[in-house]
Amino acid sequence: MDRIAITGGARLNGEIPIGGAKNSAIKLMAASLLTDEPVRLTNMPRLADTRLLGRLMQRLGTQIVERDDGPDGQETTLHTPEVVSTIAPYDLVRQMRASFNVLGPLIARTGQAKVSLPGGCAIGARPVDLHLMALEALGARIDLHEGYVYAQAPRGLKGAEIEFPFSSVGATEHAMMAAALAEGTTVLRRAAQEPELDDLAECLNAMGAKIHRDPTANLPTIVIEGVGKLHGVTHRVVPDRIEMGTYAVAAAMAGGEVKLTGGRPEHIRPLIDALEEAGVTVNELNDGMVVARNGARLKPVNIETDVYPAFATDLQAQFMALMTMADGESVIKETVFENRFMHVAELRRFGADISVSGNEATVHGVEKLEGAPVMATDLRASVGLVIAALAAKGETVVDRVYHLDRGFERLEEKLSACGANVRRLKGDGPIED
Ligand code: UD1
Repeated sequence: MDRIAITGGARLNGEIPIGGAKNSAIKLMAASLLTDEPVRLTNMPRLADTRLLGRLMQRLGTQIVERDDGPDGQETTLHTPEVVSTIAPYDLVRQMRASFNVLGPLIARTGQAKVSLPGGCAIGARPVDLHLMALEALGARIDLHEGYVYAQAPRGLKGAEIEFPFSSVGATEHAMMAAALAEGTTVLRRAAQEPELDDLAECLNAMGAKIHRDPTANLPTIVIEGVGKLHGVTHRVVPDRIEMGTYAVAAAMAGGEVKLTGGRPEHIRPLIDALEEAGVTVNELNDGMVVARNGARLKPVNIETDVYPAFATDLQAQFMALMTMADGESVIKETVFENRFMHVAELRRFGADISVSGNEATVHGVEKLEGAPVMATDLRASVGLVIAALAAKGETVVDRVYHLDRGFERLEEKLSACGANVRRLKGDGPIED
């Protein structure tokens, strides 16, 4: 199993390119099942999660062609002339929760699907009840047997009015994809507002769907007028706001000056505000931003995660790592996922002083962290440990980096290019230094 070794203390100086968003790319890949024509996605990240979903979709009948030297960098073309299987088996879905998202497109296109209930990050229970509720409202018959969802809509899906009890990114995306091909109009209330969702809507619209937000409604609302058929498209994946936010925090932690290119600062406004409050300099550019910190100690900042446009839960572990070295006490409240403080125990191994009560962590900043062997527990938590390691004295080895590989492309390369002392240890020993 690969590990990552980091020797802390180097400042970061240079440029880091930001890739396409993982959380958008995987939904766009699933959406390609809605048409029998090719869907070409540019600015595609190459990640364990996109590879896994690709493998699942190949079993469903999708032909996948990857190209790394396209006019817009890495691209993937997905083409499903015919759905040859409507089964998403446990061995693939359990490795990545988002592969569950093929369920809606499969029912919409073929009228049936058998999809394993998902696994994914160990951050709370993460049920899929809202996904199923939405599909049932659209007219699918759903049965659960032996860990599988059996869905059927032999006469097609029908538009419906659906009010979610709370905002769910996955359930909103699922409902939107299925409703694109349903007969009639669907209204989704308390719909999620994340940028990746707008990216999916934009791609579906370019494929011939009719989706718009209703800005006059009381609750965040998306209206989908079903169409009979969707066609092929070329679509550029929106930049990864979580990758950009992560490297912004890394630069703040290590000190130095890093230019993040190809990202959209407006998608991480609360993080930028929090960094500035902590004493970090952020200069926004047209297509990215420059993050700089001189030697001064960071100031403590309280944050509270919530659904977009609030502070992203996917940046919480990173920000907590930063606050471990602030000059004072900060409170970090997590409201999106239960059990998303698993990185706290690992951060304490660096000498961080953090106490947790319910969904609030109080971080008492310390003057120095010390490198330690630590373990990645989930995707975003593991990159929080990398951030702590960048400023810790001595060497840190992060185990179970497969969590990290799910969502961060060429992380060692990107950090090393800015002067960080990071290397991957393959298997049990180092093979590349
Ligand atoms: C997506 C992102 C993830 C991010 C999260 C919140 C992807 C692949 N993942 O996850 O990186 O952290 O949004 O921004 O895009 N819930 C239910 N029932 C459901 C669905 C969700 O109770 O049917 C709960 C979840 O357990 C969680 C909350 O709703 O507590 C929000 O989850 P949701 O917005 O659905 O997150 P994901 O789509 O899973």
